[in-house]
Amino acid sequence: LPTRSQADPGCLPAYACQRHSPLNHHNLCFTEALDTLAEAAGFEGSEGRFLSFRRAASVLKALPGPITSISQLRGLPHFGDHSSRIVQELLECGVSSEVERIKQSERYQTMKLFTHIFGVGVKTADKWYRDGLRSLADLQGQTRKLSRQQEAGICHFEDLNTLVWRHEAEAIQRVVEKAVRQVLPGATVTLTGGFRRGKLQGHDVDFLITHPVEGQEEGLLPKVMDLLESQGFVLYRHTQSNHYQDLKDPAQSTSLFDAYERCFSILRLPDPTAAFRPEAGEEPCRDGKAVRVDLVVAPASQFAFALLGWTGSQHFERELRRFSRAEKQLLLNSHGLYVPGKKESFPAASEEDIFRHLGLEYIAPEYRNA
Ligand code: TTP
Ligand code: MN
Ligand code: MN
Ligand code: MN
Repeated sequence: LPTRSQADPGCLPAYACQRHSPLNHHNLCFTEALDTLAEAAGFEGSEGRFLSFRRAASVLKALPGPITSISQLRGLPHFGDHSSRIVQELLECGVSSEVERIKQSERYQTMKLFTHIFGVGVKTADKWYRDGLRSLADLQGQTRKLSRQQEAGICHFEDLNTLVWRHEAEAIQRVVEKAVRQVLPGATVTLTGGFRRGKLQGHDVDFLITHPVEGQEEGLLPKVMDLLESQGFVLYRHTQSNHYQDLKDPAQSTSLFDAYERCFSILRLPDPTAAFRPEAGEEPCRDGKAVRVDLVVAPASQFAFALLGWTGSQHFERELRRFSRAEKQLLLNSHGLYVPGKKESFPAASEEDIFRHLGLEYIAPEYRNA
């Protein structure tokens, strides 16, 4: 459903949370190039350049049609000289020499490889690069100590870098739901992340768990993970308990990190043939594909904020928080929406409530692919 703003790109609003960003848009060749430049800037720790390219790419994802002439960029928010030059190059030559040079560079390729290991961020990847490491074999040949998470990430590297299909996410959801209900009847499991935004494939599967009676959900995950482990589904787990009460100021962090009870895990996909043998139940396959699964538990009163925060996209979330702070002087995170200095959140029973309180038009998950 194109908004009025989309029909007239000249008035495209400045924040991604004010636009509809569908999964399939009309400017993929440009957004891929700009997102590559953003990623490369991120590898160099250049937050400012990262955001500039990321914002420019995001603007093109909300346009009602393809860019066919450089003049169409005029008046678009977040289009500086550099991003405009890239689009111009692509329009004129079909490729951008700068983007191609980066993609072919040893630095970019190695940083991409290393940051695709579960448990490895930009800082670690950069350190390894500076130490002369270039491949997974280099890492395995090292005497250096890898974290348990990184060991698991390298061990399952191939599976974890194979995209997860929606039907696989749904198969995992059935397994997780069954375990959650067994541990805590009445608890619900909601698929969030990219799949809630309508993606057909993802790099992991994200679930948000809650229970209608506040407090019942506390300490749920260790029990659920124990059960899944006894069923042979768990390849890696790292569970953290809820530390919301320990935060001095719950609004202090508007980063994407929250204080919910959570588990970053690697689960084994259930045997695909089980679907054809319902009587066999969900028996795990000994060598089922390894899949990254994020499980998060939110108390009912914070569920709407957790749902909004974990649905993404990451850029959409960043923009929502930036909009709240800069335009409404409110602090938004995955726990609540706060007046600075106040500990109590504005109450919200749904995502719609949160958009309304921010004075924003409600954007459905399928249009949050910013
Ligand atoms: P991701 O699972 O990283 O990304 P995605 O589901 O959008 O896409 P894909 O997995 O297919 O690559 O993150 C999902 C959302 O969860 C994202 O909006 C950011 C949010 N998030 C948090 O709120 N806190 C966290 O600690 C993490 C890791 C993610
Ligand atoms: Mn995800
Ligand atoms: Mn991701
Ligand atoms: Mn995730």
